[in-house]
Amino acid sequence: MDIKISASILSADFGRLADELRRAEAAGCDMIHFDVMDGHFVPNLSYGVPVLKSIRKYCSLPFDVHLMITDPLDYIDAFADAGADHITFHEEISEDPREVIKKIRSRGITAGISVKPNTPVESVYELIDLLDMVLVMTVEPGFGGQGFISHTLDKISALRREIERRGLKTDIEVDGGIDASTSVLVKNAGANVLVSGSYLFKAKDMAAAAKALR
Ligand code: DX5
Ligand code: ZN
Repeated sequence: MDIKISASILSADFGRLADELRRAEAAGCDMIHFDVMDGHFVPNLSYGVPVLKSIRKYCSLPFDVHLMITDPLDYIDAFADAGADHITFHEEISEDPREVIKKIRSRGITAGISVKPNTPVESVYELIDLLDMVLVMTVEPGFGGQGFISHTLDKISALRREIERRGLKTDIEVDGGIDASTSVLVKNAGANVLVSGSYLFKAKDMAAAAKALR
């Protein structure tokens, strides 16, 4: 399977973000993963629309936006206007997921849904046909640099089987604790889009790190 690497700039040096984006692009990463946190859905804050808007021009890779926020519907237009190429929101919010997917697609960009480590992956099965990607969180969302949670591997395999059974091309993305060794486990389980933050950005040679993930 073709493996894609999405570099999470949550672990980048924010004082030199444009350089960090160029570093990820030069290292052969396929996408930039942009983590948005609201202090409600997750116990942390990160960055939002104005940051995306200002860094967009420094990088030609697609921006893979991960909304860890309770009310994504209100912000989809703003992220699309700022240059998002893909938006993933969470299954655990109370908004109607079909409405959110419809809104994302109405902006001509791709849509994904994410499940936290303890959310059953079966809860998104009824939506798979409407989605480009399912993001299986491999850590609790909110912080970079956490350890990989291995019980998520069974969810990835079950989801891959379900996608194959339906003859779909849906991407399976994983996010959290992905490094040279855990990447082997998630790829074997059926993931094809690997988000990596600290492993890539803390590497002296990011190209070698990206190659190791692939
Ligand atoms: C965590 C974020 C991740 C984070 C991953 O909530 O969704 O994208 O940046 O960081 P690492 O790769 O360091 O676990
Ligand atoms: Zn993320």
